Amino acid sequence: MNPAPATLRRERSERVHAFLTFLRLLRQNHTADAPEFQQAVCAQLTELASHAQLWQLADFPISEGQRWGVYQLHEEGDGTLALYASAAHPGHGQPPHNHTTWACIAGVSGVELNRFYSRSEGGHQPGLARLDLSSEQAIGAGDVCFLSADDIHDIQVTPPHSAMHLHLYGRGLPYLHHRLRYDLALQTCDFFPAFTGIPVFDLTS
Ligand SMILES: [Fe+2]
Repeated sequence: MNPAPATLRRERSERVHAFLTFLRLLRQNHTADAPEFQQAVCAQLTELASHAQLWQLADFPISEGQRWGVYQLHEEGDGTLALYASAAHPGHGQPPHNHTTWACIAGVSGVELNRFYSRSEGGHQPGLARLDLSSEQAIGAGDVCFLSADDIHDIQVTPPHSAMHLHLYGRGLPYLHHRLRYDLALQTCDFFPAFTGIPVFDLTS
C-alpha cells in the first residue's frame, strides 16, 4: 500500500472534520426521526463520498482471505456519530438485520445491493420472525440510503467490482449488542453479535 500523498491526507482529514462539525450542529437542532435530519445526513454523506480519491480501496485494504474490511474514521467520545469506510469484494453480504440506531450508507465505488424488509409476523425480539421484501436499492457511486433504528435490510456486494462505501451510524458498531439478525428460511431471528476490534484509521496518516 502506497502512503497517500500529504495533500490527500490533509484533504481527507479536513473534509471529515467539516462533516462532523456539520453533524454536531444538525443534531442540536433536529432529532434523528426528523426528515430535515435524514435529508441533511444523506446529502452530506453523499458529498463526502463523492471525493472518491479520498476513499480508494488501496488505502483501505481487505485482509488476505477476507471479503470485507471496515475502518473506523471517527467516533465521538460517547460512542455516537460513528463513521466507517467499508471495503468489500463481490460476494460479501450480511443477512437481514436491524441496527438499533439510525444509519446512513453512501456509495463511493462498486455496487452494494440493499434489500429492505417489513415484518409480517414477530421479529421484534428473538424468536419467530416472518419478513416480506419491501424494496431494493443498488447503492453505487452517488447513491445513498437512510435507515431508522428499527428498519431491516440485508446487503450483498454484486460483481464484478469490489466496493467502497461510507457508513455513518448514530452509535458505533461495538456498542450495538441488541441488533437482530433474521433467517429468511427458518423464519426466525436472534441477536446479532456486536462487531468489535474494528481498526481505527488514522486520518493524519
Ligand atoms: Fe446494516
